[in-house]
Amino acid sequence: MSTDLNSPFRTKSVEQSIRDTEEPEHALKKSLSAWDLTVFGVGVIIGTGIFVLTGKVAKETAGPATALAFVAAGVVCALAALCYAEFASTVPVAGSAYTFSYASIGELPAWIIGWDLVLEFALGTAVVAVGWSGYVRSLMDNANIHLPVALQGPDIPGGTFDLLAFILVLVLTAILVVGVKLSARITAIVVGIKVTVVLIVIIAGLFFIKGSNYEPFIPPAVKQEGGAGLDAPLVQLIFGYEPTNFGVMGIFTAASVVFFAFIGFDVVATAAEETKLPQRDMPRGILGSLLICTVLYVAVSLVVTGMQHYSELSVSAPLADAFKAAGHPVYGGIISFGAAVGLTTVCMILLLGQTRVFFAMSRDGLLPRFFSVTHPKYRTPYRPTILLGVIIAIVAGFTSINELATLVNIGTLFAFVVVALGVIILRRTRPDLHRSFRTPWVPLVPILSIAASVWLMLNLPAETWVRFGIWMAIGIVVYYAYGRRHSRLGQVGPDAKY
Ligand code: ALA
Repeated sequence: MSTDLNSPFRTKSVEQSIRDTEEPEHALKKSLSAWDLTVFGVGVIIGTGIFVLTGKVAKETAGPATALAFVAAGVVCALAALCYAEFASTVPVAGSAYTFSYASIGELPAWIIGWDLVLEFALGTAVVAVGWSGYVRSLMDNANIHLPVALQGPDIPGGTFDLLAFILVLVLTAILVVGVKLSARITAIVVGIKVTVVLIVIIAGLFFIKGSNYEPFIPPAVKQEGGAGLDAPLVQLIFGYEPTNFGVMGIFTAASVVFFAFIGFDVVATAAEETKLPQRDMPRGILGSLLICTVLYVAVSLVVTGMQHYSELSVSAPLADAFKAAGHPVYGGIISFGAAVGLTTVCMILLLGQTRVFFAMSRDGLLPRFFSVTHPKYRTPYRPTILLGVIIAIVAGFTSINELATLVNIGTLFAFVVVALGVIILRRTRPDLHRSFRTPWVPLVPILSIAASVWLMLNLPAETWVRFGIWMAIGIVVYYAYGRRHSRLGQVGPDAKY
């Protein structure tokens, strides 16, 4: 934090951040209860993680022990959630960690978080779009309509381009440009459909479980093909193990991937100021939705790995395909339909989140202000929406879901580390700031959160670290080449009108 306008730690004033928000009256309306937060949380959280990644992870890294991986990832998220809620509730803007760090820690850390969040939300959108495509194809198979293999996406042998994911992102981009919002009622209906489908998987699936599929529950470690390549988890390379799949380490490798299934609760934390009794309801809402999701995830992964031997699970629509394999295509169809509906809204929320961050960074002058001009008729940030929407659509079309998901995960975990650090630092530097939610046992909880997030990051493949490093390096270059010089804050001071 610094008042020196040449410092990379220069800060915007808290008051100005509040004035800058698009909907301050919305941010201050205290209407949400713990129950509303929980429903919203479940709505954002359940998505491609459980519907798609479960199959791939069980098949390739953890077998039936994927259920344990979900528990591990859930614990990491619960710790991060407690820090995130304080961070988000300190400045009453319905915004992101970017806005808040700008007002508290400084411009450069804010830039880093913002750049990182764009990665999280943009690639997260692509992951969900690819997951959606798998289920729509499964649904089309039921109706005997088949896309040419080349257009089924790079995760399918012989596929190169995921046409359906590409189209979905473009359509959602158009919807966001026009400014259609999901009403609370539609959100509630979609959450209902999604949870019902998950419950159908669990309850109906129980009848098709074969005990022999659980043996062994933790499959013995097997050496990774290709040895100590860049696709091995970093932790295994650092400690000089011969990289393996499965075994106990496989559970953590799996946890670092299925962590994706929990992403979204950080969006819930940003609703702190709209919550009636944040100190009580925030932890109930966030931890409640995390707990519900963890229980559902563990149950689904146990059922699916019990229905089909893990080595036979499908990687694009594992939940529906397990029922098809058990001779019940009707269940498979219902599940595919529910998954496709549910994933559409998750995809839309992530896409919206990413344009918001990009828009805020451009309004502050850190990215060209060309992008913060809203549409004359629809009043939406249409320029970043279209630019990023088209890029994401292309990325979703050409990239494997695993590569995308691990990159999203490392970015999100990194943001959690910065957020937990931010909580500790700000308790010392800005004890005066009003916090509508306070993390319990500071600094213990933030320190545990940092350790847990770093541990999951270390379990991600080395190549993910390389990609993430390149993305962040580009970010630093852009900041010094453009953002720092064009920053509104640098030009006109901490209380400038933006
Ligand atoms: N947690 C969300 C999902 O799994 C992003 O799709």
